[in-house]
Amino acid sequence: MTNGTILHSLHPLGQLDKFRKDPLLFLESQATKNDERVQFRFANRTVHLLLNPALIKEVLVTQSKSFQKSNQFKELSLLIGEGLVTSECPLHTKQRKIMQPYFTPRHIQKYVSEMIGSATGTMEGWETGTLRDISKDMMQVTLAVITKTMFNMNDHEAHEKVGVHLEKILEMATKRIRSFLKPPVSWPLRELKQYKASIEELKRVVEEIIQHREILSEEKEDLLHALLHSRDDEGNHMKRDQLIDEVMTIFVAGHETTANLLSWFFYALENNEHVKELVYEEVDRVVGKEELCSEHLPNLPYTRQALEETLRLYPPVWMFGRTSVRDVKIGDHFIKKGENVLISPYIMHRNPKYFQDPLSFDPDRFYKTRKESIPPYAYFPFGGGSRVCIGNHFALQEALVIAALYVQRFNFTLSSDHRVECHPLITLRPKGGMFMNVERKVDK
Ligand code: HEM
Repeated sequence: MTNGTILHSLHPLGQLDKFRKDPLLFLESQATKNDERVQFRFANRTVHLLLNPALIKEVLVTQSKSFQKSNQFKELSLLIGEGLVTSECPLHTKQRKIMQPYFTPRHIQKYVSEMIGSATGTMEGWETGTLRDISKDMMQVTLAVITKTMFNMNDHEAHEKVGVHLEKILEMATKRIRSFLKPPVSWPLRELKQYKASIEELKRVVEEIIQHREILSEEKEDLLHALLHSRDDEGNHMKRDQLIDEVMTIFVAGHETTANLLSWFFYALENNEHVKELVYEEVDRVVGKEELCSEHLPNLPYTRQALEETLRLYPPVWMFGRTSVRDVKIGDHFIKKGENVLISPYIMHRNPKYFQDPLSFDPDRFYKTRKESIPPYAYFPFGGGSRVCIGNHFALQEALVIAALYVQRFNFTLSSDHRVECHPLITLRPKGGMFMNVERKVDK
């Protein structure tokens, strides 16, 4: 094998058409061509798919200053403006500094009881013998958790409104990201008018959340408090638009990702009877009939490993990218200013060079000593470097809480009528949902 493969295509769209038809299949087929990097064209853009952990580390860490976020998220900028996901230095550094303290492992421990409270509330009406779309349920529960922990919002109605608008907006944004010939949002088309109206409506709900907090006399120690009270070096408060962008960003980045992790977790258990038994045995032994609390969490190592293994096979952020801001050399490869770099946790996590028998679901890969032998940036569900997911510890803790609560109370069986497939949209969703029969275990 050479250390880089360059694929030429005479088609005016280059490889874009193939990618759009089936992104995972396309990336998988490219990954067989080289184990370092494959270069191809998406319309008029040169793209480098990185397949070597050392190169990925160079882009995300050692040479990160030569790259910016790619325009993959541009479509979302109507919604999240210059929030933490899309902003660049120096704004990004300033905002990250304000928000980081609310996501440290120590700080997020304070959220455990709120996570439990919000998650328990969402499953109250679940009846034995019903068929449920678990992926919808997980969206609802993670949205409830994020609104409570980050913004101390209890208002069920406002929280439902956020959910309804977000669902519509993300659906449309995904459609636009996928289509090559998309009309500008300024065009007077009915669909686009609705899209913009939903974004405006969501921003109005967020504005209400902020105003409600501003008139509240009692202090809440949450992210919204930090955003409202932060001052820059000149003593100025954060601008209102920036504040709204950050709140929107947390809603968007902080719920669908974890919801997908949980849906895939329950799916993986269904397909791996032995792992399922071990997870159920652990939760029954450690939590039993007690109310789940923070002390139980460190005693659920196998369940946590199963979540980490789910993130390996079904990484919610299945691909992300960067654009080079100058000519740069990574490893032996030249990347010209303006060219795109694609990084796919989905592809890297399934690479037999780094994971033995990569398609088998084996939580023991993440057992203490074995975990240490995984090379850095062969496994990176949360990205890396200065743009690493700010919510990484939060997401794992939240997923463990929700997984434990559901396993303690319910048995799930995958509906036989529904074939589950990966749907790589903005995040890796189960196509058409994840339908499971639900049976209550204990009377709780
Ligand atoms: C399983 C759940 C999650 C996964 C797999 C995930 C994955 C990722 C990845 C891969 C990135 C980096 C993207 C890039 O470098 O271009 C990222 C960034 C980010 N994530 Fe997450 N995420 C998850 C949950 C969360 C949660 C719960 C929150 C908030 C509460 C969150 C907030 C963010 C933010 C704000 C960024 C941008 C960080 C920055 O650029 O400084 N994520 N996430």
